[in-house]
Amino acid sequence: PGQHGEAWAPVNIALAKYWGKRNAELNLPQNSSLSISLPELGTHTRLTLTEGADTVTLNGALAPEAFAQRLSRFLNLFRPDGLGFAVETTNTVPTAAGLASSASGFAALIKALDALFDWQLDYKTLSMLARIGSGSASRSLYDGFAVWHRGEKDDGTDSYAEGLPETWPDLRIGLVEVDTSQKPIGSTAGMQQTVNSCPLYTAWPTFAEQSVQTQLAAIRDHDMEKLGDSAEHNALTMHATMIATRPTILYWTPETVQAIHTVQQLRASGTPVWFTMDAGPNLKLLLPHTAAAAVQTSFPEVRILAPFATA
Ligand code: DP6
Repeated sequence: PGQHGEAWAPVNIALAKYWGKRNAELNLPQNSSLSISLPELGTHTRLTLTEGADTVTLNGALAPEAFAQRLSRFLNLFRPDGLGFAVETTNTVPTAAGLASSASGFAALIKALDALFDWQLDYKTLSMLARIGSGSASRSLYDGFAVWHRGEKDDGTDSYAEGLPETWPDLRIGLVEVDTSQKPIGSTAGMQQTVNSCPLYTAWPTFAEQSVQTQLAAIRDHDMEKLGDSAEHNALTMHATMIATRPTILYWTPETVQAIHTVQQLRASGTPVWFTMDAGPNLKLLLPHTAAAAVQTSFPEVRILAPFATA
């Protein structure tokens, strides 16, 4: 008791999405995925071993019950007999903004556990363990681009993410918040429902693997058009499977559709910008820094971030 560890992890935005599990207990995915981390946004977690039951705070206040329970269940995997954890988490992510805070949250948590117990595990192993907390957390161990390999094994030991060495100083990510209210269904339940009832889903895993390959080539060549086009097509295809699920999973609001049209109009008038979306109504934009001014004019509220150090 009293021993502590702390860590920070960034949020990540999937450009080739994880949607569907082949094992829901271990969060083993149906397909590989690829993401970019945002170094300015993420979660800081401080863990202390205690004598009593677990306590969880989020941004200084007592955390919601569901959130605390999800963390405690994960911590059970590593809990010394009879001890509890005091978990203090601080998000630099607006929790409701549709930026998966579970990804940075579980990545920071496993790093804090590694520090607390002085495991000194490598990032591959930490990624595999973070995955058990939340699939997308496997990618939040890394700055920059990361690929989460689907893996083949039933025990999940080959399903972890790796960081890519490539940097891309000219790349920008724009955050467009169209709606910050609670989403209709979370990604865990949503993807399960899609796998179980969407007739289009059978096409998804193969398509998603192709997206990863296309994007790896685009990243290698710094081909913005190829990366943006693939990310947008991947997101739209994932949302098509969501929409064709029973009951339907429609995250889009009228403002979402309006923002999609604005992106298309910008592109038609020569501004290179693409979008991606996760399990929510908000858009994330991909653009080269040269398009930042034009994008800012059409989306006055957009927050444009650089994933890599700029010159
Ligand atoms: C649409 O990682 O939140 O953001 O493994 O059940 O915790 P669990 O799901 P989660 O799903 C993320 C889904 C997504 C796409 C992505 O991030 O790849």
